[in-house]
Amino acid sequence: MSTDAFRERLTGYRSRIDKALLQIGKGAEPAYLYDPIRYVFSGRGKRLRPVLVFLTASGFGADEEETLPAALAVEILHNFSLVHDDIMDGDELRHGKETVHNRWDNSTAILAGDGIFALAFDQLNRLNDTSVASMRLFTNATLRLCEGQALDKAFETDDEVSVDEYLEMVRLKTGTLLSLCCQLGAVVGEAGDEEVDAVAAFGELVGQAFQIQDDILEIYSDSEKMGKSLGSDIIAGKKTFLTCKAEELDRSHWREFMQSLEGESLDERIPKIRDYFGKNGIVTDGEKLVKELSEDAISQLEPLPSDVQANLTPFVQYLMERKN
Ligand code: IPE
Ligand code: IPE
Ligand code: MG
Ligand code: MG
Repeated sequence: MSTDAFRERLTGYRSRIDKALLQIGKGAEPAYLYDPIRYVFSGRGKRLRPVLVFLTASGFGADEEETLPAALAVEILHNFSLVHDDIMDGDELRHGKETVHNRWDNSTAILAGDGIFALAFDQLNRLNDTSVASMRLFTNATLRLCEGQALDKAFETDDEVSVDEYLEMVRLKTGTLLSLCCQLGAVVGEAGDEEVDAVAAFGELVGQAFQIQDDILEIYSDSEKMGKSLGSDIIAGKKTFLTCKAEELDRSHWREFMQSLEGESLDERIPKIRDYFGKNGIVTDGEKLVKELSEDAISQLEPLPSDVQANLTPFVQYLMERKN
């Protein structure tokens, strides 16, 4: 399939998800709960996770209609995690709009998140024969995601997080969800246990690569393009691939450098931080690792049916080229 045809296919999946999300909670009350929920579902997400569910399920022969609830469930879970993540990270912008806690307040955002989480389960219940197996995978993935978020928060006040510890954190907070997409797609497509495990390993590696890319974009892209707050993480002491690598290469130099920026605005700091990462080869290291993890992910697909490989390999290439 040509690159254009593949991109068109993704656009089709995406518009299917966007339309279905707009139907959820339509006309429901009370407004205190459902207004922010509808607001979240009308946001400008890339819908990468449901696309991954569709691609995997289709590779195993499932049709779009039967896959839709699984695809929606993960996108909804993802959005739930973002509403709460934005409270935890104190961010102001998401999907090109104000974050829920900023537009309303923390109570509204916590409750909207709870409601959104329940709506994800509501989708899983709509799966016919695969509902129980999917529920088990989904529950387990949610817990792993929370473990990843816990490490992410705990690392904020830990000055000695190694690159390996960082990789474990992102395996949990981001790898888990991409892995779940592949697992659910495979389960809907009635894949065997070994096949489910192989796509799970693929998804986890893709997720790690995706998060490292996100860490790079956090510093090198802009907020408008990404539709979310950027740069705040590094100021809050959050551990990204780039900061852990900088620490590992030369801890005292990195700390002195960060201290020298104290008191400066984000706009003043960002170009200097870019310069530091550039000069010390840290961005190049990050890009190299994204490539290695992506290649490793693709190699996990070798024992799988050719249709699965044909769907998932271009997805990795597509992600590697992303700019937002
Ligand atoms: C954001 O994920 C959270 C991370 C794991 C980096 P996405 O970039 O896929 O989120 P959307 O597309 O804005 O929903
Ligand atoms: C995303 O994590 C949220 C989850 C993976 C649950 P981050 O906090 O690193 O991502 P952004 O930058 O807010 O999208
Ligand atoms: Mg965040
Ligand atoms: Mg976070």
